[in-house]
Amino acid sequence: MERTFLMLKPDAVQRGLMGEILGRIEAKGYKPVAMKFMRIPKELAERHYAEHKGKGFFPGLIEYMTSGPVLVMVWEGDNIIMGMRSMMGKTNPQDAPLGTIRGDLAQQTGRNLIHGSDGPESAKREIELFFNDYEIQDWKRSLDPWFTE
Ligand code: RTP
Ligand code: MG
Repeated sequence: MERTFLMLKPDAVQRGLMGEILGRIEAKGYKPVAMKFMRIPKELAERHYAEHKGKGFFPGLIEYMTSGPVLVMVWEGDNIIMGMRSMMGKTNPQDAPLGTIRGDLAQQTGRNLIHGSDGPESAKREIELFFNDYEIQDWKRSLDPWFTE
């Protein structure tokens, strides 16, 4: 099973959309293995988004990501990295189709509610950046065979 790093950004928390978004991910059948409600220090936000350092939107992005608490998580599932990118929809919610989280619930790139790793290397890097081994649960769910054969 593959793992991905997900974050409900400060706008998702402030707007009371955590339950709505988590409900979609749970209903898909993906399994949570780690969760933490936290305020991201500036330095950690800069490391997380290091690939965007130097871009015009970087300072605003860091300000947004550190403006309030976020929910950071690790979820597990079959091909979940790409699966979550599809469920999230495009970076700019105006290009994200209805049925996706950003397409249904957001209006602007700078307030796009959720982060998800974009590949196996970034998933590994981001999981290690936010979680210790003991914070990640390996657990069996009795319904697992009804989601994946
Ligand atoms: P994320 O990393 O947050 O999951 O989003 P993403 O892969 O879909 O998009 P990415 O290109 O990695 O951009 C990271 C975040 O930076 C903000 N952004 N603003 N104003 C802009 O042109 C712009 N471009 C990106 C967004 O919050 C985006 O999610
Ligand atoms: Mg990204």
